[in-house]
Amino acid sequence: MKFNEPAGANPIDRQKVIGKPFDRIEGPLKVTGRAPYAYERHDAVENPAVGFVVGAGIAKGRIKSIDVTAARKAPGVLAVVTAETAGKLGLGKYNIAKLLGGPEIDHYHQAIAVVVAESFEQARAAAGLLRVDYAAEKGVFDLRGTKDTSVKPKPSGGDEPDSAKGDFAGAFEAAAVKLDETYTTPDHAHAMMEPHASMASWDGNKVTVWTSNQMIDWGVSDLAKTLGLPKENVRLVSPYVGGGFGGKLFLRADAVLAALGAKAAGRPVKVALPRPLVFNNTTHRPATVQRVRIGAGRDGKITAIGHETWSGNLPNGKPENAIDQTRLLYAGANRMTATRLALLNLPEGNAMRAPGEAPGLMALEIAMDEMAGKLGMDPVEFRILNDTQVDPENPERKFSQRRLSECFRIGSGRFGWSARKQPGETRDGRWLVGMGVATAFRGNLVMKSAARARLAADGRITVETDMTDIGTGTYTIIAQTTAEMLGVPLTQIDVKLGDSAFPVSAGSGGQWGANSATSGVYACCVKLREAIARQAGLDPLKADFADGQVTADGKSVALAGVANARDIVVEDGIEFGDLDKRYAQSTFGAHFVEIGVDHATGESRIRRMLAVCAAGRILNPKSARSQVIGAMTMGAGAALMEELAVDKERGFFVNHDLAGYEVPVHADIPHQEVVFLDETDPYSSPMKAKGVGELGICGVAAAVANAIYNATGVRVRDYPITLDKLL
Ligand code: MOS
Repeated sequence: MKFNEPAGANPIDRQKVIGKPFDRIEGPLKVTGRAPYAYERHDAVENPAVGFVVGAGIAKGRIKSIDVTAARKAPGVLAVVTAETAGKLGLGKYNIAKLLGGPEIDHYHQAIAVVVAESFEQARAAAGLLRVDYAAEKGVFDLRGTKDTSVKPKPSGGDEPDSAKGDFAGAFEAAAVKLDETYTTPDHAHAMMEPHASMASWDGNKVTVWTSNQMIDWGVSDLAKTLGLPKENVRLVSPYVGGGFGGKLFLRADAVLAALGAKAAGRPVKVALPRPLVFNNTTHRPATVQRVRIGAGRDGKITAIGHETWSGNLPNGKPENAIDQTRLLYAGANRMTATRLALLNLPEGNAMRAPGEAPGLMALEIAMDEMAGKLGMDPVEFRILNDTQVDPENPERKFSQRRLSECFRIGSGRFGWSARKQPGETRDGRWLVGMGVATAFRGNLVMKSAARARLAADGRITVETDMTDIGTGTYTIIAQTTAEMLGVPLTQIDVKLGDSAFPVSAGSGGQWGANSATSGVYACCVKLREAIARQAGLDPLKADFADGQVTADGKSVALAGVANARDIVVEDGIEFGDLDKRYAQSTFGAHFVEIGVDHATGESRIRRMLAVCAAGRILNPKSARSQVIGAMTMGAGAALMEELAVDKERGFFVNHDLAGYEVPVHADIPHQEVVFLDETDPYSSPMKAKGVGELGICGVAAAVANAIYNATGVRVRDYPITLDKLL
């Protein structure tokens, strides 16, 4: 099905099942520990051996030699694989550094060997016996020292790195009120609960890998490319993913080394990256330096807005597009954005929850708060005044739907914003109390997505797609979509996900998953309805599906029984035309935060948070709320504690475990509220839904920073806002 015009009325609009807060259908499996995750697929693979990954001990240079003699002789060892013994390996399309390094080393903890043994302990002990002789070279590890050597990168994600409109320099110079500040965000780790893990088993020259991956088809292609196999010889299975956040968008070392280890050992092998290896072996959100300039008239209208960002990456890596939102968010005739990229020899920088907007709004939304202060305006009113219904860089292009100001108005009332006082004026015992606000904004991406649906004789319907559920609720919303389309209860639907044997879906990334994958299922269900009607002897054009029956021309037939000897099986998907180019499609929100800062120690404690989101039809308010509160929690982490500490001499992230890399715990987040505007966006998809999982993090950190400023009068422009920066 091609989606090229705004959606008209369709069966999803009935909202008997869609839009209802159903519990996750796979929830009981997860909370009872029976959901099979990759490292535990003993149901699928008997007695796998265990691979232990060895990471490089230098950030840049060469391996002169690896002596594997002692490791090979160690108890229980079945194989030792290095780049030297692995044979020729390719590089995946989505990988920028080899997943089995050597002799050249591209970054610290790049995998250089996998030791396979009967048990984890034996593999780990033998790995300790490898003798690696390195020739280390000097690398570049400090972003702030590389600003002068950074370059304008190639367009990434379809966007030009720079943009300009009107006369930014002239208008900024002439502005009555202006701000020119620089903000920094640190490197962030995804820190998902389930580490990268895979189990591989060969059958001749075909390999099956049970893994933990967000994008099955990308993973199959890149594993095939890496191993030099035809794509059809590779199967990836990833029905449950214990968190990804962008860290599992791509093929990583665990899958490659499980496959190579299994080949060398002649038996199935499982590999999990030990927690201390994850942080430097895989990807992270790159640090940024961002300069924001805003000029406005005394009336508060923005006349000039400029945003420049610097980030670093390995050769062939991409920049952090922290300017993305600034192109679309606020009105203003004179504008510029610029993206610069420096060469850094740290581990690969790549997507982490809302890449671009999440770190971009950390800077822009403090700048907006500072600007409101300079203008003597309320920060909510300043944002509403500069809201726009058209793409400010291309004013002939409208937003498909944009209710940002409404989010602010509803949020202010609900949060009690009018009680906010001037900085440092509110006190509660030892706590200085403040309120902060920020805009949430994230693009609404759509991706082609397919599914297969099957009606059995007993009336049960099974949906199969390689779509993943990364803790987001995919199983449930796909079942809801199917139930709505076929007019049957949710309990009559079986959903099978995350297997490359199923039709290729959108996958889980960029908050496109829920809307795109359910749209693919919608398209497939349209076809299934036609097939069922025809089989029942009814006119497919008139057929209505409700209460377990298909009805046309006054005749009703129960779905159970329509398929007799053979199941009715159909396959279809959705392809998106250019509606997302003709109309700016985004998701919007307003974040409100109240915080207390200890007047003596500078310790910050969030007291309450509110998000008001406008993101099209909400398919399941319960799972959508879970997405948003999780994202708000991650935003609170970005504001207050998350930071990969760079060893600028040796070039690695020092705090590479969950003891040193701090993320929020329950006690850090006492009260969260989420409000969804009741809306549908027919320009987005037949589901009229949009993404919401990344919207939730966008702007949160700045709202926290602005609340801290309101509490204390101290403006911090360098994240995370730890207590030392407030004293
Ligand atoms: Mo997301 S950072 O595209 O998983």
